Amino acid sequence: MGLGEEAQRLMERRNRAIPRGVSHATPVFASRAEGVYIWDVEGRRYIDFAGGIGVQNLGHRPRFVLEAVQAQLDRFIHTSFNVAPYELYIELAEKLARLVPGSFAKKTLLVNSGAEAVENAIKIARSYTKRPAIVAFTYGFHGRTLLTMTLTGKTRPYRAGFGPMAPEIYHIPYPYPYRDPLGADPRFGALAAERLYELFDTEVPADQVAAVIVEPVAGEGGFIVPPPDFLPRLREITQEHNILLIADEIQTGFGRTGTLFAVEHSRVVPDLMVLAKSLAAGFPLSAVVGRAEVMDAPQVGGLGGTYAGNPVAVAAALSVVDHFVEHPEVLERARRLGEVVNARFHEFAARYDIVGEARGLGPMAALELVESKASKRPSTVHADLVAQYAYEHGLILMRAGMANHVIRTLMPIIMTEEVANEALGILEDALRYARDEARG
Ligand SMILES: Cc1ncc(COP(=O)(O)O)c(C=O)c1O
Repeated sequence: MGLGEEAQRLMERRNRAIPRGVSHATPVFASRAEGVYIWDVEGRRYIDFAGGIGVQNLGHRPRFVLEAVQAQLDRFIHTSFNVAPYELYIELAEKLARLVPGSFAKKTLLVNSGAEAVENAIKIARSYTKRPAIVAFTYGFHGRTLLTMTLTGKTRPYRAGFGPMAPEIYHIPYPYPYRDPLGADPRFGALAAERLYELFDTEVPADQVAAVIVEPVAGEGGFIVPPPDFLPRLREITQEHNILLIADEIQTGFGRTGTLFAVEHSRVVPDLMVLAKSLAAGFPLSAVVGRAEVMDAPQVGGLGGTYAGNPVAVAAALSVVDHFVEHPEVLERARRLGEVVNARFHEFAARYDIVGEARGLGPMAALELVESKASKRPSTVHADLVAQYAYEHGLILMRAGMANHVIRTLMPIIMTEEVANEALGILEDALRYARDEARG
């Protein structure tokens, strides 16, 4: 099934008007979306396993978000919090401070995108510690701005050709159990965190490091779930050296892993947390939430932005946050969905030689596609075929990983088991198709 006529026309216009650097996971041109479905311009319906890159955890256009947004549109759209502040921003700051782990006093900064939140977290950490260096991880993804691409540990497509990078950023390896020769060692997670000591000895002394930034599950890097002792050991070492720990929960937050935030699985309490994506159900909004004394370090006027904390986006976010608080069953359902998806993914791994590994934390699940289990060589070819077959049969999928060879699930966590099973059926057909097609 090729592109429909309307999609063909749009694709030609898109190619003339928009730079090729802006990519899309599928050629499905959206005309509307509702709940767990997207319809294209030809009227075809798709199950959405991408959620606009993990933004629609509560589904497309939930009623409570539409009502909150409409009510705010009727009041005012924008005054800029830097000019005429408003209560909504304060209310969201208070609520996020209550929800983010940590029994200490917290404050919240609102900005627009994930990358902007990460940039601000780094500014705040440097301002508080008066230290320049930041440690990040290979396989990490933190955004596309100069500083956040420098933090990112994936050269293609995010860094190549865009240098020079920002100074004082150091990387150590993210624990990748499937690919690391030490992956089966029961102390693998702790050993990975202890790479910090080596970095302090060889590249940058600990007393020059302001913060370590880490994704609790590496998203864009391939949905890599670190061993359970990794984050706790990282927390211990950072505390030992008065280094701030920044958890990037932009992709893992708001139920993606079956808990509100992924750090809850390991009970690690970061000093700062960055949030975006499903925070505001599709409106551009992000947040830095953290220790009050750290958040207060930058001078007056050092933080903010024209649109930062836009009232319409904040109204949407408040309705999202309230929904999670008032409906704890949403997270229970997310965990159940995670069980269904992971069980099926493990069956795929047992059944198909092109599935090197199935892994996941709650409904944040992945299939790492390889040429064969024996070779473990990443297979972009199989991933291309799976993704294409899937959208041609009504399922929108996203990929991740260094070779774009990992199939990842970012479906709304409100998806019923029935719809999830329908999607998983399409995915299994896609795996079989990819295996047979690649064999020739
Ligand atoms: C973990 C993580 N950090 C940061 C970002 C950057 O967010 P944005 O694209 O909103 O700038 C992303 C986006 O995918 C992400 O997954």
